[in-house]
Amino acid sequence: MFVNIIILLVLIAITVGAGWLTWRAVRAKRLWVKIAGGLGAGLLTLVFAAVAFFGGKGLASTYFPGAAPAPELTVAGTPEQIARGEYLVNLSCIGCHSAVGADGRPTEAHPLSGGWNLPATEGFGFIGDMITENLTPGGKLAGYSDGEIFRVLRHGINQDGQLLGMMSLMPYKQLSNEDTEAIVAYLRSLPAAESAGPTGDNLNFIGAAMFGAGMFGPLQPPAPDVIAAPPQGVTAEYGKYVATFGECRGCHGPDVTGSPATSVSAAIPNPRPLVGTLTLEQFVEMMRSGVRPGNNPFPDTMPWKNAAKMTDDDLAALYAYLVAPVK
Ligand code: HEC
Ligand code: HEC
Repeated sequence: MFVNIIILLVLIAITVGAGWLTWRAVRAKRLWVKIAGGLGAGLLTLVFAAVAFFGGKGLASTYFPGAAPAPELTVAGTPEQIARGEYLVNLSCIGCHSAVGADGRPTEAHPLSGGWNLPATEGFGFIGDMITENLTPGGKLAGYSDGEIFRVLRHGINQDGQLLGMMSLMPYKQLSNEDTEAIVAYLRSLPAAESAGPTGDNLNFIGAAMFGAGMFGPLQPPAPDVIAAPPQGVTAEYGKYVATFGECRGCHGPDVTGSPATSVSAAIPNPRPLVGTLTLEQFVEMMRSGVRPGNNPFPDTMPWKNAAKMTDDDLAALYAYLVAPVK
């Protein structure tokens, strides 16, 4: 944090210096100094001003997001809550927070000891570190209150009130209070596992500037404090909620109609045209086997193994949502 703030101050100083040079050049007596110097120094001023502006914006939104206090909350941890939490966590969180393998990537297996440095393994290490947390009581969550874990999921804010680089972009802010509490209950019930190494965010100035400029995806509006899920059932309405906790909307866009490329990820297609040609049975078969019709397997970038763990009813609701008209 301090290094990044010093870099920001230096950049502001350079911007002011370049601005002063531009002023001097424009007022110079010789015409060529006026034109070449004015243009050169002017351009430099603009570039440094833009970098300082977006960097400053990124730093401000990360370090001072104006976070609401964590709710006062004690999760009871009933067997029902733990079972529901287990279902949800094994559909989504495990894809990033599971123990890492020799290649530094998650193994999708327990324990949820984290340690995946996304930028480093996915080819955007120049932004700094974003390392998944150990979600078992062997990691830093042991020192978090239930309300503070709730706030991570609902608002993407850590214990110190700072915005979390990756978690703030995830769709968990739309989970119901009931499901969010179920996740907390399940995480608390896990056996403690040791962390493999450091965890958490350490974005450098370039990362902060790109974050501030919305280059990882747009910063999301604040989420409400109370969210209720639609009634559970095989309906398009509940299917949209399945697409939320099943993360389809996180990648395929809010309406699951595809999403454009960002500076750190490729474009993701609209799955509706394909799903629209399938029966429910064919859709379930595809999601459970990872193979599209015509013997065309999903590539690794499509995390079908998580969706394969959904109940029949949830897959049927998802199907109903994907074949319904987009509202
Ligand atoms: C796309 C990968 C990804 C998924 C999926 C994901 N996380 Fe994370 N999580 C991260 C990363 C990366 C961090 C490190 C901080 C950051 O960049 O947000 C993190 C940090 C956390 C933290 C620590 C926050 C803090 O205060 O330091 C918690 C708690 C957490 N995640 C819970 C969850 C839960 C629960 C789920 C599933 C509902 C989940 N995460 C799903 C990537 C992910
Ligand atoms: C981590 C991001 C990610 C998540 C989460 C995700 N997908 Fe995908 N999905 C992809 C990518 C990338 C492709 C494109 C694969 C390719 O190149 O053919 C894809 C392809 C698909 C396709 C095939 C589209 C076609 O025309 O071939 C379907 C269907 C699909 N996804 C459905 C889903 C559903 C349903 C969910 C939620 C349970 C989901 N996806 C979650 C990234 C994701």
